[in-house]
Amino acid sequence: VSNTVGIIGAGNIGQAIAKIAVRAGRQVVIANSRGPESLTDVVAALGDGASAGTFDDAAAAPIVVLAVPWDRVGDAVAGRSWDGRIVVDTTNPLKLTITDGVPEVSMIDVGGRVTTEIVAEQLPGARVVKAGNTLPAARLGEDPSQEGGRRIIFVSGDDDEAKAAVASLFDDAGFRAIDLGDVAASRLQQVPDGVFPGRTFVEVGEAGE
Ligand SMILES: NC(=O)c1ccc[n+]([C@@H]2O[C@H](COP(=O)([O-])OP(=O)(O)OC[C@H]3O[C@@H](n4cnc5c(N)ncnc54)[C@H](OP(=O)(O)O)[C@@H]3O)[C@@H](O)[C@H]2O)c1
Repeated sequence: VSNTVGIIGAGNIGQAIAKIAVRAGRQVVIANSRGPESLTDVVAALGDGASAGTFDDAAAAPIVVLAVPWDRVGDAVAGRSWDGRIVVDTTNPLKLTITDGVPEVSMIDVGGRVTTEIVAEQLPGARVVKAGNTLPAARLGEDPSQEGGRRIIFVSGDDDEAKAAVASLFDDAGFRAIDLGDVAASRLQQVPDGVFPGRTFVEVGEAGE
């Protein structure tokens, strides 16, 4: 169990992080709102190490990745104990609406707040780490070896042990995780105003060289 990453949400980002966790040699339990039987193709594509589970299966892992739309977070996490659990918040405050087949993305007003704090408030006791929200899912899921270096992924949050565990997950998959600081620092990762969203960074050479 200690080697397991639970993923809540099996869409673009959930699948990208699942790929990363498999690449890092972790066991993955991935869940959506429709149940494990709907994820047969998804886990087959992920390969060895990945399985579909219920929400409870995924939420029981020592590291839980929250990869649901912003307006579903409350529903997805309500009424559970998150005490001490490491939760990776990949969300952005966006809403996708499809009108006559035409998709449109709009911002959700968060009143100038740090979005990670809004998510953390819904997960009492959880050790929340912001990560994986600044790149499009397809890019996040790519091989992190790029341009002769390693793709950078930013982590932030108030719990150092939780950040280290999440950083190891990404590092073991070939990324270079960089700790930005506490939860307030996650504003740098935040959509729409942060400086990091949409930008791809690569560290060339090894740190300390
Ligand atoms: N797409 C990107 O490139 C990207 C980039 C950075 C950050 N993000 C952020 O990542 C999050 C996920 O985005 P996405 O594009 O991956 O969304 P998506 O493709 O629409 O997938 C959302 C997933 O969440 C599941 N879900 C919804 N409500 C749930 C609930 N109550 N309990 C359990 N699972 C639930 C859905 O399951 P069902 O299908 O069964 O309903 C689906 O598997 C969003 O907050 C988004 O802002 C996305």
